[in-house]
Amino acid sequence: MDHEDDILKEEHSRLVISMNGISQDPGKTGKAFSEVLKIFQYHLDREEGTVVPLLSYLKERMCKGGRTVDDSLVTAADNLSVELESMLEEHRQIEDLLGRIMDLPKEKQTEMALEIVAELRHHVALEEQMLYPAAMAATELIKLKKKTC
Ligand SMILES: [Fe+2]
Ligand SMILES: [Fe+2]
Repeated sequence: MDHEDDILKEEHSRLVISMNGISQDPGKTGKAFSEVLKIFQYHLDREEGTVVPLLSYLKERMCKGGRTVDDSLVTAADNLSVELESMLEEHRQIEDLLGRIMDLPKEKQTEMALEIVAELRHHVALEEQMLYPAAMAATELIKLKKKTC
């Protein structure tokens, strides 16, 4: 797999490691992050099975000839169409938990916790504003290709 395809996966791994660490903290912050982590781990598996291959398909279209639409891409496109709503709902659930962390008294908010909250919010915004729309565009292209080929 190309390095570029791994950017999302690398970010997921980094966030999982950070959240694994902070989840061990006793108290409400650690507990809230362990709840975020539970959702995030389930969530990232589906993103990596749909958004990642679809973005990789878009990128490969820039190269001469591009990539042929195989069954695995059609499956990723079908799965994204089915899963998109619940993936967006999981983002809402994650944001609710992050909001709870931000509502804690300032003295309970460590620098590390604030950093992870900011990283997660950036990650979700990037996905919703760019990566999901791009993956949906890839889905439309793949379905169109399937119809005409
Ligand atoms: Fe993600
Ligand atoms: Fe996500």
